[in-house]
Amino acid sequence: MAANDQLYHSISLALILCLGLWAIQVTSRTLQDGSMYERHEQWMGQYGKVYKDSQEREKRLRIFTENVNYIDASNNAANNKLYKLGINQFADLTNDEFIASRNKFKGHMCSSIIRTTNFKYENASAIPSTMDWRKKGAVTPVKNQGQCATEGIHQLSTGKLVSLSEQELIDCDTKGVDQGCEGGLMDDAFKFIIQNHGLSTEAQYPYEGVDGTCNANKASIHAVTITGYEDVPANNELALQKAVANQPISVAIDASGSDFQFYNSGVFTGSCGTELDHGVTAVGYGISNDGTKYWLVKNSWGSDWGEEGYIRMQRGINAAEGLCGIAMQASYPTA
Ligand SMILES: *[C@@H]1O[C@H](CO)[C@@H](O)[C@H](O)[C@H]1NC(C)=O
Repeated sequence: MAANDQLYHSISLALILCLGLWAIQVTSRTLQDGSMYERHEQWMGQYGKVYKDSQEREKRLRIFTENVNYIDASNNAANNKLYKLGINQFADLTNDEFIASRNKFKGHMCSSIIRTTNFKYENASAIPSTMDWRKKGAVTPVKNQGQCATEGIHQLSTGKLVSLSEQELIDCDTKGVDQGCEGGLMDDAFKFIIQNHGLSTEAQYPYEGVDGTCNANKASIHAVTITGYEDVPANNELALQKAVANQPISVAIDASGSDFQFYNSGVFTGSCGTELDHGVTAVGYGISNDGTKYWLVKNSWGSDWGEEGYIRMQRGINAAEGLCGIAMQASYPTA
């Protein structure tokens, strides 16, 4: 019968359509999972990651997927954020693991440090509205760790820019107040350089990334020395600006947040605590195109992180401590 045939035909068509839609859905889901698997694999290659077994790899893929979704959601947020996140070397770590994996810098564990009260830039006037010490040749390339502020003052006082030995500080700066500081307050590093009557260069005492025994021969080579260090008055971003206008400044920040973990570009305005856990160097400041004031900060997590290893962090916020506590413990070496 023609009518029955037609009905049968319609049902078949509907079935085929349903099957087709289902197939498209299944395929696209597989493709999506497949592409995340492939992205993870590509990322593993890029960062030389090898997992001990397939179970670990599955677990890391799960975390990687969560992080990629977090990063995408943040970058696509309706309230246009001033900064972008990116998939970097920390993409297979949970935030807790990221915090635990870094060399901890425990500001509060080192409170016995003698602080000087002199602030030589107190009366500095004619503060430029922007500053970038990289353009003045006072900042060495981003490494995994760095003694950037000391390199900066050496360049300013001698005109020569040398990369200083972080390894010497790791191996040799283990006495007295430094013990238990795990990673070291910048002031401690300055103190060591003063007591050791100098520090050797990166080339003379190269970075190995692990604690070694102090090589006294190498440590006796003194490429650079400083005569003292001073603290910038705490919780005062204007004082910090006066200081950064005159030389690169060591600052401590709270770098434990997820947005800090995955920071990629723009002016960072993300949520941040004030539990100082990381030493970095403020090498400048400025104002972005949309009028947001920022600090230009050199990090030590390699050039894949942030803007070629740097982060621009919002400056002049409501809290006196500054974003991520940047104005809480700033100090600088004196030549
Ligand atoms: C800043 O100026 C005041 C008042 O003139 C003076 O007492 C102080 O010693 C100056 N500070 C520095 C670091 O030169």
